This record gives sequence, C-alpha cells and structure tokens, in this order.
Amino acid sequence: MAQLGAYVGPIQAIRQDNARVDDSAKDDHIAHDNPFALFDAWFAKAADTEPNDPEAVALATSTPDGFPSVRMVLLKDHGADLLGPGGGFVFYTNAHSRKGGELLANPRAAMLFHWKSLRRQIRIEGTITRVPDAMADAYFASRSRDSQLGAWASDQSAPLSSRAAFLGDIAKATARHLVGPVPRPPHWTGFCLTPTAMEFWMDRAFRLHERRRFTRDGEGWTSSLLYP
Ligand SMILES: Cc1cc2nc3c(=O)[nH]c(=O)nc-3n(C[C@H](O)[C@H](O)[C@H](O)COP(=O)(O)O)c2cc1C
Repeated sequence: MAQLGAYVGPIQAIRQDNARVDDSAKDDHIAHDNPFALFDAWFAKAADTEPNDPEAVALATSTPDGFPSVRMVLLKDHGADLLGPGGGFVFYTNAHSRKGGELLANPRAAMLFHWKSLRRQIRIEGTITRVPDAMADAYFASRSRDSQLGAWASDQSAPLSSRAAFLGDIAKATARHLVGPVPRPPHWTGFCLTPTAMEFWMDRAFRLHERRRFTRDGEGWTSSLLYP
C-alpha cells in the first residue's frame, strides 16, 4: 500500500518533469522554427557533456535494391547554408569503401546522433552529394601527416590478409611521399547529406518522451510533434 501512496500517475509525472526540463534546458527547449539552429544548440550542449567525440554519428546507407548498412563517422562540417540553400552535414571517407559505393549508387542516407549524457537523439534523412574537390583538399590538408598517409595506405572495406601486410602498405605510402605535402587521394573525399527531414528526441519521465519532426517545405520547414 505504501507503494500505491507514492504513485503519482502520468499527468503529474509529466508536470514534474516539465519543471526539471524547463529549468535545465531553457535555452533549447524543443523550438519549432529552425532545425539547424536547434541542432546547433544541442550540438553545443553535447560538446560540453559528452566524454568524447560529440561529433560521432551513425550513418545509414543502402544498396539500390534497399539492403541497408550502418556505421559511425565523424561530422566535420554542417550548416543551414553549407554548399547551397538546403544546407548539409559533411563527413569524410574513402569513396571506394562499402559506404562510398552505396552512396554513389544510391545517393540517399540517414544519420543518427545519440548523446548518452544528454539523453537525446537527432535523426536526419536526406540526399547525398560529393563535396567540391577544393573543400576536400582543404580538409585533407588540415589532417596530420600520419592520417594522410593512412588514407593512401588503407583500401577501406577491402579484405586485409594481416596487420603486417597493412604496415607494409603504410611503409610504401610513406616512401612514396617522403618530402613535401601529401596530396589527397582522389578516392578520399567528403559527402554532404542535405536534409529533407530532421527529428529531435528528448528523454522525458516514464518514457513519455518529446519528439518533434521537421520536414522540408519549399525553402523553409514545417514541424510537428510526434507521439513518443
Ligand atoms: C567514433 C567513430 C568515428 C568514425 N569516423 C569515421 C569517419 O569519419 N570516416 C570513416 O571513413 N570511417 C570512420 N569510422 C570507421 C567507420 O565506422 C567504418 O568502420 C569504416 O568507415 C568502414 O565502413 P564501411 O565498410 O561501411 O564503408 C569511425 C568509427 C568510429 C567508431
């Protein structure tokens, strides 16, 4: 019976939780006009709270006949006007990799950020374009020399006979680029996901979570709450 006495019911639980969330997230309580601004607010918060790599994001691709695959990448650039009026989210990879092959054959993708420390997720869906070579060159030039040599040595996603063989590949790449800057491998580049939909999910008490989905509407966005 004592347990029954402590039971407050979902409506009161939501009210109590409103107080908690409104206090802790006044600046970024799910707003409904601009998903890029909301992304920036949550991303900044994640940079403060995550123990590492707040920019780590799951990237889902699929073959043209609809067989999906997913892996982590690092978000390296993003913005509402990045590479055109639709904006986008940019990561870098080997275009000969599994993901690269799938993206080139079927230029659609989805991303999922999950920040455990914040108990929030953001889902993004959209279309894929390769970033301009000059942008990929500039980012490649900013990486450490060892990472640049690794990009030449790694035949990403292809079978590897042994780690020793890989060390041999790295030694060969190093010997080929002993002096001067290391150029970007032509197959190593960036991809930009231009969103057609973005969904923001915030943990709330008793799994009565808060969700808002934005969908592209001409040059702007419309948004709606979703049941959790
Ligand atoms: C946190 C994290 C970040 C990663 N970032 C990248 C990245 O930015 N680019 C990349 O090509 N692979 C990255 N990887 C490795 C990929 O998850 C994956 O193993 C690799 O890209 C091959 O994927 P694929 O065979 O599906 O093409 C990352 C892995 C982790 C765990």
